[in-house]
Amino acid sequence: DAAVRINPSILAADFANMAAELARIASADFVHVDVMDNHFVPNLTFGPQMVERIQQTSPVPLDVHLMIDDVDRWAPGYAELGAASVTFHAEATTQPVALARRLREIGARAGVALKPGTGIEPFLEHIDEFDQVLIMTVEPGFGGQSFMPDMMPKLALVAEHARRRGSDVWLQVDGGISASTIAQAAEAGADTFVAGSAVFGSTDPTEAIASLRERALL
Ligand code: DX5
Ligand code: ZN
Repeated sequence: DAAVRINPSILAADFANMAAELARIASADFVHVDVMDNHFVPNLTFGPQMVERIQQTSPVPLDVHLMIDDVDRWAPGYAELGAASVTFHAEATTQPVALARRLREIGARAGVALKPGTGIEPFLEHIDEFDQVLIMTVEPGFGGQSFMPDMMPKLALVAEHARRRGSDVWLQVDGGISASTIAQAAEAGADTFVAGSAVFGSTDPTEAIASLRERALL
């Protein structure tokens, strides 16, 4: 579709004031929730208990990004607690299509994420099995890193494939998205944008969300 979605990442929020931080981004489309296990990535955030409270507290639906191992075991639980979207990493499972089907059965949108070094080619023929493809534009693990423009050809490839298939899959980018990088990603075909520091580092998150939205539509 032609819509643009802005999903602020609460990785950049104040974890001790989560309810207030969630209220500051009520104009967003989704809240991006980064789950890290200190194993799939060298950083640790939170698990199902915290995400369930975020689900109960957030004025906008949850876009859960799992940077964890054992997704076949853990991902369905995030769909069961009510997350609107659950995205697991391609590198963390040997059964991505089966897992996506399970997430959809539970009622969540199913997403697959690719690290910068992972190719999209094996997923192209299965594109209809996913509601979202996340092309990472940094190495996952930390906020505040620099956007990788060399991911744009991968994004353009999946965008072109989806367009030819008439697929309505959402194409998400995550990492280093700001007012100065979002247009490049939109140009390459992204429609769903995660932004951590660009939103929570701003004194006016509502204004930051609006300005990102505007630049993505240019
Ligand atoms: C990084 C996370 C991102 C992170 C983005 O591994 O997946 O969602 O919060 O942060 P920024 O927008 O600061 O690059
Ligand atoms: Zn993320």
